[in-house]
Amino acid sequence: MTFAGSHILSIGQFEREEIERIFQVADQMKPYAQRQRITHVLDGAILGSMFFEPSTRTRVSFGCAFNLLGGHVRETTDIASSAIAKGESLYDTARVLSGYSDVIAMRHPQSGSVSEFASASRVPVINGGDGANEHPSQALLDLYTIKNELISRGHEGIDGFRIALIGDLKFGRTVHSLCKLLTLFNNVTVHLVAPEELKMPEDIVDQMRRAKLTVIESDSLEQGIGKVDITYSTRIQEERFSSQEEADLYRGRYRLNQAIYTRYCEPNTVIMHPLPRDSREGANELDNDLNDNPNLAIFRQADSGVLVRMALFVLILDVVDQVDEYSRKVRWYTKSRF
Ligand code: NCD
Repeated sequence: MTFAGSHILSIGQFEREEIERIFQVADQMKPYAQRQRITHVLDGAILGSMFFEPSTRTRVSFGCAFNLLGGHVRETTDIASSAIAKGESLYDTARVLSGYSDVIAMRHPQSGSVSEFASASRVPVINGGDGANEHPSQALLDLYTIKNELISRGHEGIDGFRIALIGDLKFGRTVHSLCKLLTLFNNVTVHLVAPEELKMPEDIVDQMRRAKLTVIESDSLEQGIGKVDITYSTRIQEERFSSQEEADLYRGRYRLNQAIYTRYCEPNTVIMHPLPRDSREGANELDNDLNDNPNLAIFRQADSGVLVRMALFVLILDVVDQVDEYSRKVRWYTKSRF
């Protein structure tokens, strides 16, 4: 695919070399994300940030990424205060709002909605999560994090690594996109740990098997996390269940804490989670007692979101070769936060 002017709707649209290109550009964004330099390459550009479902990291990191490139962000955050509440179609909203921005990042509770919106948009649209379907930029930042964590532990790269995906694999859009992304790599082993009712959709499992990944399904956390390089826990997506009572049947089913980690994981196993982790008593899928464990990568993962989203913007808006030209050193006091 050509990046310039493209929508980013599904992780399935990428080839491996495009993923590598995104990661290379993300690395180039470090001096800007780390506040050593600032760039104005997107001076005057407007990001339409439209999040019609709760979001902290994805919404704010898309916005910050755009700001760090010198662009402005115009936010619409809830359906109730937008014309969608008056019965306006996605088509009309897309036609109108795409006249006001240069690129749009969008989240919406319905599967397929962001693609529908994109087909009427006059500017590139990035899917920030459409229902239980996909979350492509999250998969990119997850894999970028995985790559960096593996390399810092002596691996050569992504090929040949082992991961356990734990929790709500039925409704979790981050794991759907991540599994599809892993099909581009060789010799990857994926342990899927979920209750029977929340298993990974069969078409995604089939896609991984067809791509020659080793896929092992179980409902046991202890079995799943024993022989992997990465654990990736997920929140029970309670907003997608028909009732809270039904979601509560599964919240708290899998809890990873320091004692379980020490007992079952290999030393230095990386701990990931797309966040937010549900830290309430009835859930607590990733305990706070792991906060001092150096293998807890969840905040490095969230930091990577800015780099990867900056990379997507400069590639889609075709300014990747001008970022440094429009830059200078920062004037204020900064301290590395990475
Ligand atoms: C995830 C999402 O919204 O799909 N969060 C995120 O974007 N980092 C995961 C979740 O909400 O559980």
